[in-house]
Amino acid sequence: MGSEFILPRTASSNDPLRLAVLISGGGSGLLSLLEHQSASSCAHRTVLVLSDRENAGGLQHGRDSGVKTLSIPLMDITDSLAQRTTHEEEIHRQLIECEIELVVLSGYMRILTPWFVGHWKGRLVNIHPSLLPDFPGAHAHRDVLSAGAKVTGCTVHLVDEGVDSGPILAQQSIPVKPNDDETSLQERVKEVEHSLYPKIIDMLSTGEISL
Ligand code: GAR
Repeated sequence: MGSEFILPRTASSNDPLRLAVLISGGGSGLLSLLEHQSASSCAHRTVLVLSDRENAGGLQHGRDSGVKTLSIPLMDITDSLAQRTTHEEEIHRQLIECEIELVVLSGYMRILTPWFVGHWKGRLVNIHPSLLPDFPGAHAHRDVLSAGAKVTGCTVHLVDEGVDSGPILAQQSIPVKPNDDETSLQERVKEVEHSLYPKIIDMLSTGEISL
């Protein structure tokens, strides 16, 4: 049986929650969160940006904001479980060193091991570009289009030991247009994600979400 979800403490703008944002790509979601944090007196702030890819475009957003920004690529280890665990141990070490209270996955494209999830359960949140439980995995837009779905959306959820399967905190639907391709769909979904995710992180930080 998996461990229980332990939500973050209730924070305030005077004593904001310390966030790490994990990315793998362009980081438009990270940028929207950083902009939200600098525009409003919210109860969280990003103190660490981490990427598993050294060339992730989003790393620049972290640096531009003066936030500690690191890339931690996979180590050269043949055994795949040992490789994943060693990688996550290093990420975990950085999170502890920075006294992180909430880990925000924002386009982080790796599946986390039960070991890592077990340490952060309830304080590990993800955004996925579909209406879960439909279309989990790494190719949500492609799968939505090939299934001929008329509606898609995005989902904010707590991460559990499964793939895109933890408790859902919020969802917003978005129509699929007849001439949509993966790029156009991704752009429209991201636009919605950029307002939904900061809003739900606000609520998590101020104790407005319970399980
Ligand atoms: C976002 O649409 C996010 O929902 C998705 O990757 C994109 C990242 O964009 N995440 C996943 O697919 C996770 N399985 P960004 O790098 O521009 O923020």
